[in-house]
Amino acid sequence: MKNTVVIGAQWGDEGKAKITDLLAQNADMIIRYQGGCNAGHTVVADGKTYKFHMIPSGILYDKTICFIGAGTVIHPESFEKELNELKAEGVNFKNLKISPLASITMPYHIEIDGYTESHAGKGKIGTTKKGIGPTYSDKYARIGLKIQDLYSYEALSEKLDMILPLKNKVLKNVYGLEEYTKECIISLCEKYAELFKPYVCFDWQDLLNRYKDRTILFEGAQGVMLDVDYGTYPFVTSSSPIGGGAAVGSGYGPYMINEVVGVSKAYVTRVGEGPFVSELTDETGEKIQKIGREFGVTTGRPRRCGWFDSVIMKYAVLVGGITKVALTKIDVFDTFDEIKICTAYKDCRNDRVYTSYPTDVFIHKYLEPIYETMPGWKTSLSSIRKYEDLPENAKKYIAKVEDLIGAPIGIISVGPDREQTIFIEST
Ligand code: GDP
Ligand code: IMO
Ligand code: MG
Repeated sequence: MKNTVVIGAQWGDEGKAKITDLLAQNADMIIRYQGGCNAGHTVVADGKTYKFHMIPSGILYDKTICFIGAGTVIHPESFEKELNELKAEGVNFKNLKISPLASITMPYHIEIDGYTESHAGKGKIGTTKKGIGPTYSDKYARIGLKIQDLYSYEALSEKLDMILPLKNKVLKNVYGLEEYTKECIISLCEKYAELFKPYVCFDWQDLLNRYKDRTILFEGAQGVMLDVDYGTYPFVTSSSPIGGGAAVGSGYGPYMINEVVGVSKAYVTRVGEGPFVSELTDETGEKIQKIGREFGVTTGRPRRCGWFDSVIMKYAVLVGGITKVALTKIDVFDTFDEIKICTAYKDCRNDRVYTSYPTDVFIHKYLEPIYETMPGWKTSLSSIRKYEDLPENAKKYIAKVEDLIGAPIGIISVGPDREQTIFIEST
């Protein structure tokens, strides 16, 4: 297998974890390179369901190193909970390694995220309230804490003398939240140091050098349309889920990346606020939500559902650097008489037609989807394992999608289980 990045091509929850877990069979190391416990990743293997947030979905394989890279943000309490839940499922963490350069989500980040969301009125993003935005804001403002700070009292103490007076002013005067004493933060950090100790990889440079000629799988979280630069800003997350993000957050440069697999549902979902041109607010949307079990892994919120949108997918292929597509959840349409694909947007103010993605989200409220309708296949796909065995109408649907998005479809997923996958060999 080539070195591969797995990314979401829509607004997250495309089934990245299933694809990562599948490809992990042939990888020597998996690197999670951005995001935090806002991610909710589900793997179904041998009839068991595993839920991941921070821990790479490749951890189920004994031989694979799982590295949480510098571009991530880690909330210690959530990490501990995830670790304990997975340990109870019999998962083994001997291969888990964390970059000392990863950022820490502190309790005040979560409090600020919660406060901002509940006071933003119409400007609400609908975040996961996991402190992601405030942690990345502090990182870029150069007032964040990193895992390595936990292991040097002198560095931590000096940093806190700089950070805390400022942070406390903001907490008290801007948000009306409680201030933190230095003693309180130091005592928390001592706990965090113990928690992370078995996993922190201080010799990560040696590790990455040793694995340069091995097979690396880069695991993305969220999706291209939630990217802080290219997504539906400001209704985005605060990191870079595009393929290029792997070269920033992993510790390896772009030369290490041979393939970018963009995972896309056969329809579209979105959690939280923000524009969604092909959204269905009728019974068809409800039907997709029900059959696809579209409820968030992290927050339990119902996911908004809509028809496949080739305008955003074409955009995701470009800015995400996608070389191959994994089309998931196509089985959700098994009972549908017809299936629609959004091929363009029309601005209802002036009838202007967009076939390329309009990045100014302010105008999205004026956009209407233009659809092409395809006949359904009205039979179950869940036990099909070969492309040739798919019904003609399913093949036509796949060919249409491929034609519209400008990237080959290499993987088709017909169910949540590892086994329920069709690999298309020509790509
Ligand atoms: P991720 O965040 O991209 O890893 O995706 P999530 O795990 O949040 O959501 C995808 C959901 O769809 C999970 O419950 C998966 O088990 C499930 N899933 C993945 N692929 C398929 C598929 O092809 N068909 C069906 N029916 N479910 C799938
Ligand atoms: P996975 O990896 C779906 C969404 C939130 C919100 C926006 C910002 O499972 O695909 P944040 O908490 O990141 O500041 O929220 O991004 N969001 C996700 N939606 N899947 C995810 O992760 C998401 N992570 C964040 O719902 O709209
Ligand atoms: Mg998810």
